[in-house]
Amino acid sequence: MHRAAFLIPIAALAQLASAGLYPGITPDNHTCALVNPVLSCSCNAKPDKVADTCCTETYGGLLVATQFWNTFTGLESKGQIYPKDSWTIHGLWPGRQLPLISRQYDPKPAPNTTDGTPHGTPVPPYKGESIDKWFQPYGKLDLLAYMNKFWVSQYDPNWVFWAHEFSKHATCYSTFQTECYGPKAAEHADLFEFFETVITFQRRLPTFKWLSHADIKPSNKTGYTLSDVQQALTKGFSLVPFLGCSGPKYNETAAGKGTLDNGRTVLSEVWYYYHVHGRPQSAHGKKLAANAAGGSLTTCAKAKGAVWYYERAKGSEQ
Ligand SMILES: *[C@@H]1O[C@H](CO)[C@@H](O)[C@H](O)[C@H]1NC(C)=O
Ligand SMILES: *[C@@H]1O[C@H](CO)[C@@H](O)[C@H](O)[C@H]1NC(C)=O
Ligand SMILES: *[C@@H]1O[C@H](CO)[C@@H](O)[C@H](O)[C@H]1NC(C)=O
Ligand SMILES: *[C@@H]1O[C@H](CO)[C@@H](O)[C@H](O)[C@H]1NC(C)=O
Repeated sequence: MHRAAFLIPIAALAQLASAGLYPGITPDNHTCALVNPVLSCSCNAKPDKVADTCCTETYGGLLVATQFWNTFTGLESKGQIYPKDSWTIHGLWPGRQLPLISRQYDPKPAPNTTDGTPHGTPVPPYKGESIDKWFQPYGKLDLLAYMNKFWVSQYDPNWVFWAHEFSKHATCYSTFQTECYGPKAAEHADLFEFFETVITFQRRLPTFKWLSHADIKPSNKTGYTLSDVQQALTKGFSLVPFLGCSGPKYNETAAGKGTLDNGRTVLSEVWYYYHVHGRPQSAHGKKLAANAAGGSLTTCAKAKGAVWYYERAKGSEQ
């Protein structure tokens, strides 16, 4: 969704690729502590300038930390519910998409080809065990518990959503390539580190709190005005994030009938933009306004009181 603008042609890159998806990746030489952190998307992060693509996010590097607000999971009966007073994690996307099939754990890959077109390489559905079984043997039950609380899926079990995010997005980072972890890395080191990185960013982005401070609280009685929501989050983040709305278009609702405002009316997503110094794993980000990165600011309606920030359903939060 809304991702087309980030895509860059990759046919030429594919020919250069050596060990992994990206050129310049060898089994060693990834002591990133020895390298001055390079800012992603800067001149020095260009492929011909980068000494080690494991240490500098190359070929992408516009990071988007994304969160959801939903009112029900659809799996409440299985105990899958949202954390009270908190938005939930969607993911941490790099600025390009070229997923790697060798780390494809998504039972329902979408898109189902590597480049999202019918001509791309098909992405086979994952048929293995649920990836939440992988945490315990590596001593990562605390990570699993955190993810089950704050990275909650709608309709699918949580692990399916995590697997989707990992396979579609994490495998596209140059710095999360398995080769970057050296020849003797533990299995899934890249996966756990990706999940931990997502959480590091997420923990700095308390959307719910930022909104409450401006008295913007979930309500099924009062609509909010987009500019107020933007202002509250800009105060918290210091730059304006992207706000995504779903639901009916304002001018298809009774309240907006006859107007030209065709923005949607149900607040459901926020995207915070960054470039990063060095590896995303270090979480040394440089914030960007959503529109500075070339993206749009919102899909929400702009009319006064047109945006609904709904209360969660009874029994859908803990
Ligand atoms: C990479 O590592 C090898 C030894 O493993 C060393 O000889 C070489 O100088 C290193 N290259 C760079 C660019 O650091
Ligand atoms: C991908 O999905 C489309 C639409 O659902 C379907 O028509 C197509 O056959 C699928 N392609 C592969 C490679 O599975
Ligand atoms: C809603 O707004 C759009 C864009 O301004 C306009 O093209 C469309 O005709 C409107 N629809 C209705 C039902 O008023
Ligand atoms: C509030 O409205 C949303 C959207 O219609 C609904 O899903 C939710 O159950 C409602 N919450 C309460 C507490 O009524």
